[in-house]
Amino acid sequence: MADNVVVFGAAGQLGVELVTVFRSRGYAVHPFNRATVDITDLPLLERTLAAIDPGVVINAAAYNQVDVAEQEPQAAYAANGLGVRNLAVACRQLDALLVHFSTDYVFDGMLGRAYTEDDRPRPLGAYAVSKLAGELYAQAYLDNPLIIRTSGVFGPGGLRTARGNFVEVMLRLAASGQPIRVTEDHVASPTYAPALAEKTADLVASPHRGLFHVGGGRAISWFEFAAAIFRAAGVSPELKPTNEREYRTAARRPKYSALENARLAACGIAPMPSIEDALAAYMTERAKYK
Ligand SMILES: NC(=O)c1ccc[n+]([C@@H]2O[C@H](COP(=O)([O-])OP(=O)(O)OC[C@H]3O[C@@H](n4cnc5c(N)ncnc54)[C@H](OP(=O)(O)O)[C@@H]3O)[C@@H](O)[C@H]2O)c1
Repeated sequence: MADNVVVFGAAGQLGVELVTVFRSRGYAVHPFNRATVDITDLPLLERTLAAIDPGVVINAAAYNQVDVAEQEPQAAYAANGLGVRNLAVACRQLDALLVHFSTDYVFDGMLGRAYTEDDRPRPLGAYAVSKLAGELYAQAYLDNPLIIRTSGVFGPGGLRTARGNFVEVMLRLAASGQPIRVTEDHVASPTYAPALAEKTADLVASPHRGLFHVGGGRAISWFEFAAAIFRAAGVSPELKPTNEREYRTAARRPKYSALENARLAACGIAPMPSIEDALAAYMTERAKYK
């Protein structure tokens, strides 16, 4: 049924917002977390979807441990590549729309400007390769999937997950009283999960399909983003810039992976909120959890 929407990865920080937004727009939402349906289990996935017969299948499930993936690339590929293949195969059988989320990390970050949907991906590590594989599987089995690449997702849902998000990491460090060092030579488009969920619902309701970039709308370094977080939270820890050379990680990351939202705008969809407004909304939601 067209009004039946299935959300996989419903316990993740984006998943919880998708469930809220689609319910608020009148859809019958069927949420599944990893404990109820693991997307790597094709027979279970097929049985589950056949019983619901959804018009829309949203995949917010993902293996997101960018550095750990360098030690276990198979685990990243199983969820982010083959899991998406499973979803695409099942959606094809049911003629359902697959909405899938991907990442700015499919790019190498060497362009020096925000990436458009027409720019060529060049992933730099196991996580990034697995996410690009997911995009390719969705496109291989389906004529019109909706693939949404996003960047640096933060949302109140992250307060309930083990992984959390960058905002929570920064606030935890601030509370510890130690000086905080954050990279100033890596630029992304931090994206507020509730706003991303709203844009996703706008796209689903529109006739537009294909590949979309939905980032936060501003290119900003992680150092500047940390400073914005502390301003929004009203705290003043000692914040110092660092860089890729000083702060090594297991996985290579793109240096400049901001996303250009122009295709979204061309479809008549309102812009994302400013980072300041998104952080203010986040702090308000966060206070409700305390
Ligand atoms: N977070 C970011 O900064 C970021 C940046 C760019 C793109 N994205 C993309 O945005 C989407 C949403 O990310 P998010 O931040 O909401 O991630 P998240 O908070 O880590 O949520 C992902 C959820 O997927 C679940 N999951 C993992 N493997 C699964 C499997 N095999 N079957 C079913 N569920 C599984 C996880 O469960 P467990 O907790 O049990 O593992 C978790 O609840 C993902 O596609 C991600 O790649 C995220």
